Amino acid sequence: MAQILQRVLWLFMVAVMISAQRTFKTTGLRPQCLGNVIRLTIDKSFTIGGHLEVDAFNGSHYYPITPSMAPTCGYRKTIDPWGNVKLFASVLSCHTQNQDDEDFNMKVRVTINSEQKADKADMHEVSRTCKYNQWASREILCDRDFMEVSVNRLPPPADQAVHPEMEEDQWAAIPETVTSKKSIWRMVFFTPREKSLLLTEAQNLGYFVASTPTRLVIRSRPNTTEIYTENVAGISMNVLRVTTYFKDLWSVTMLDSAAACPTSGLTFTEKTITWYVPRHIHPLLTPNTCETLEVYMGIDGEQLNESQLLSKGYSMSVTDSLIIIELPVGGPDGYYKSCVSQSQYHILYSIEAMVVIVWKEAGSDLLTKYKVLYPITTPLMPRPPHVIANTVPEERVFDVVLGTFHQDVILMNITFSTGVLTVVEANARGFNVQEFRFPNGSKTFSLRVPFSDPVVLKSSPKRELTTYTLSLIFGLVVLPEQSPFSHPAVLDVTLQDVVFPVVTGTCDDENYYITVAHEGHGNDFKYIVGKRELTADLASDYSVRVNATHMTMRVSFLSSDAVFTFVIPTAAGGRLDFKVNDPVNKWSLTDFSLACTFPMPLTECQPNGTMTALALKVESAPNVIPSQLTLIDKSCKPVFSNDRFASFSFTVNTCGTARTFLDDFMIYQNQITMPNQGVKNGKTGSQPEYRLTISCYYVNDDIKMIPFVPKARGIDEDLTQIGTGEMRIRMRIARDFYNTFYSEENYPVVEYLRRPLYFEVELMDSTDPELELFVESCWATLTNDRQSTPRWDLIVDGCPNQDDRYMATIHPVTADDRVQFPSHFKRFDMKMFSFVQDNVVLRDQIYVHCDAAICDRNRQSDGFCYRPCSSHPDNQPSNFKSSQSNAKFSPRSRGQLSSGRILVSK
Ligand SMILES: *[C@@H]1O[C@H](CO)[C@@H](O)[C@H](O)[C@H]1NC(C)=O
Ligand SMILES: *[C@@H]1O[C@H](CO)[C@@H](O)[C@H](O)[C@H]1NC(C)=O
Ligand SMILES: *[C@@H]1O[C@H](CO)[C@@H](O)[C@H](O)[C@H]1NC(C)=O
Ligand SMILES: *[C@@H]1O[C@H](CO)[C@@H](O)[C@H](O)[C@H]1NC(C)=O
Ligand SMILES: *[C@@H]1O[C@H](CO)[C@@H](O)[C@H](O)[C@H]1NC(C)=O
Ligand SMILES: *[C@@H]1O[C@H](CO)[C@@H](O)[C@H](O)[C@H]1NC(C)=O
Ligand SMILES: *[C@@H]1O[C@H](CO)[C@@H](O)[C@H](O)[C@H]1NC(C)=O
Repeated sequence: MAQILQRVLWLFMVAVMISAQRTFKTTGLRPQCLGNVIRLTIDKSFTIGGHLEVDAFNGSHYYPITPSMAPTCGYRKTIDPWGNVKLFASVLSCHTQNQDDEDFNMKVRVTINSEQKADKADMHEVSRTCKYNQWASREILCDRDFMEVSVNRLPPPADQAVHPEMEEDQWAAIPETVTSKKSIWRMVFFTPREKSLLLTEAQNLGYFVASTPTRLVIRSRPNTTEIYTENVAGISMNVLRVTTYFKDLWSVTMLDSAAACPTSGLTFTEKTITWYVPRHIHPLLTPNTCETLEVYMGIDGEQLNESQLLSKGYSMSVTDSLIIIELPVGGPDGYYKSCVSQSQYHILYSIEAMVVIVWKEAGSDLLTKYKVLYPITTPLMPRPPHVIANTVPEERVFDVVLGTFHQDVILMNITFSTGVLTVVEANARGFNVQEFRFPNGSKTFSLRVPFSDPVVLKSSPKRELTTYTLSLIFGLVVLPEQSPFSHPAVLDVTLQDVVFPVVTGTCDDENYYITVAHEGHGNDFKYIVGKRELTADLASDYSVRVNATHMTMRVSFLSSDAVFTFVIPTAAGGRLDFKVNDPVNKWSLTDFSLACTFPMPLTECQPNGTMTALALKVESAPNVIPSQLTLIDKSCKPVFSNDRFASFSFTVNTCGTARTFLDDFMIYQNQITMPNQGVKNGKTGSQPEYRLTISCYYVNDDIKMIPFVPKARGIDEDLTQIGTGEMRIRMRIARDFYNTFYSEENYPVVEYLRRPLYFEVELMDSTDPELELFVESCWATLTNDRQSTPRWDLIVDGCPNQDDRYMATIHPVTADDRVQFPSHFKRFDMKMFSFVQDNVVLRDQIYVHCDAAICDRNRQSDGFCYRPCSSHPDNQPSNFKSSQSNAKFSPRSRGQLSSGRILVSK
């Protein structure tokens, strides 16, 4: 520790004399006279950025004050952590100009060699003359680095010299020249054995020996071999005792010099430094005969009076054997210094105390003035930094304070989980790294890191909790020696950031698509599809994909885990229920339903009379077993079934299909039912479990959509499913008697006047033998507009127009290769004619139009299909008919037929 301190405080440089002279300035260079000590303070502003060199002037030359010569010459230089330098010099130092042992002039030159301006060093000279004439017979100056004793070598003035009890009366007789330095014959050191040395030998051993006008000065390092230690009142002391022999021709004169300086006597507590100094230092004094005249203390070589002691919290007490000085740790005259020891942050406190004692030898006027300059440094005090987490979790920002440190510590960098950032980089990233200084000079560092930053690690030990962890290593250094140290910190905050899965879904025409955002907790959840848990087997059926954040799946609309909710003729409505559970806490986290409409024809009606129907098991009929469904004819079973649906395909003249003719269309109807097998309320249910009416609406020409929207249904209500179909009727003209026919591309058909044209009207495609085609009316017009005039009726109410001179003839139809169902055909002929007005042929072309209808052969009573033809052979047909058509049938939407253009051949 002492070595560290030494290094810190003591920076000497080997002198490089620069001859360049510069303007001297003395601001910041402050020499002060403190009795037998001169203190030069050099402000840190001088030393910043350079190496300080101090040279002492001996009157003609400058001598660099080097670490090796300083103790011997009576100098000590200290430097505090901020660069303030103090140079303590004895007024009897090697280079001081001594004027009659009263005025002492110290002149030094301060040089700052900076690397920036290597050729031009900054030089400042300072000179101070201190008056000190209160010399005691013996003055002892104990410094950390040296021990100095000076004794009066001249006899006292005549009036004092003659003292009755004075034994060594030769004092008075000795001339001054005898005790000058050049007459020193030898020096005897007491170690405590006597050791005799010549002056030159002593000087070679590092002793400084000098004669001033009135005094003999001896100075030594505290560790020379002739110095011995002695315990005085429990305090260890270095003792220097030497007798100097001056030799003249006839006489030998002896002078005793002694110094004893304390090397121990300190105790420390966290708050107080106690310094014990023996009150009577035996090696210096005649036992029991001396008297303590004065005791005072000081700091930095400067005496303090009572009120100063009090105000600064110092105290001094004197007991029989000890002087006890108490100094508070942290007092204003000292300073704290940061240190790194074993990678840990420590501090120490330094202060330089002083004690002065004046003794008087009993029965004489011989005074001893004893001064100790005692730099004190506490042991290292560990100050492990504290991490204060001021985080308010709701703000979601870590707020960290690290402290406290002394001002000689700076924060260099911070190591995060992701790497090291310098303070500048951390601030650039928004961490707001700040230094806060207290009035007492201590400081703290703070930073703020948002939870959302990637340096913050997130973990979720439990699904409903999220732990945010910030791990940091603060990289710090102590100035000025740049000792690095670090302090780790781990902060965590756990928040109830419950992760709820977010379920979304969409559909296309055949599938449900479910997406679950699980925030990494996919494995913590249990999924229920419909009523089943999503097992691994099911997962592959449903193309389940899982990544770090999401789970997706696809479920066919026909899947047994989905349900059908309603049917409309062209679509089925379905729903997929999906639940997410927390199996650990047995919590249901989400309850999700995805309802979609899937377009699909449920009942299809073919022109040839084939009906297909899909019976879906809807949610409201849970007991339906699709395979047990039948049509009205119980032998008609599904062509395919599974647990979701049954499909039927049958022709309209089978399976009990009912046929209904309405004015505008024809309906085939059947029912899909499931027999009620259970026994309800004691009686076998007569109501079927399920009844779905399926209908095919055949509209002669136009397709009619009859929308069917299901109401909320009980099981007793019928389900109805309606399809629409188209029945095609065509009218053709035969080339002969119904063997070959004109086709589309043969038009216009050309025929001679009064030649017969053979028409055939046919219900196409249908295989229903129960249908009868009825040709209700036919007429001819001049243009292709069937409503136009002039018009000529050919068939009226299913009978040939009685008014017609060229009356149409209806031909019965019999089965043959081409005609499978004769009732599906009607044939008639007419004689070719042309429209004439006032005996002028209007145009030699005609169009023939018919209205046809489809009737039920078995229900002749309810239709108009089977009205008998009345016969009026006597009626003269007129050439022209009224344009009024038969209003009775006109609103009906019949099968409307028209021939193409028929030309009269010339
Ligand atoms: C200063 O030191 C030099 C060299 O040692 C010496 O020659 C000179 O006399 C000294 N000056 C004084 C005033 O002692
Ligand atoms: C005394 O101490 C100084 C500095 O600590 C050292 O340079 C010197 O060698 C020591 N002398 C002896 C005799 O131990
Ligand atoms: C103590 O010293 C201070 C500063 O030198 C001075 O102002 C004060 O008057 C002195 N007090 C006494 C009691 O001597
Ligand atoms: C300086 O003040 C701060 C805040 O009051 C305190 O925490 C710290 O311990 C003080 N430092 C010293 C060395 O007294
Ligand atoms: C961080 O600062 C410390 C000083 O405390 C230093 O030792 C270390 O090398 C620095 N790290 C980086 C990467 O700069
Ligand atoms: C995980 O899947 C979801 C949904 O398919 C997708 O949006 C996301 O980008 C995927 N994430 C990763 C890391 O692959
Ligand atoms: C009726 O037409 C459908 C579709 O063209 C066909 O699948 C079916 O076999 C036909 N049925 C009959 C009896 O011809």
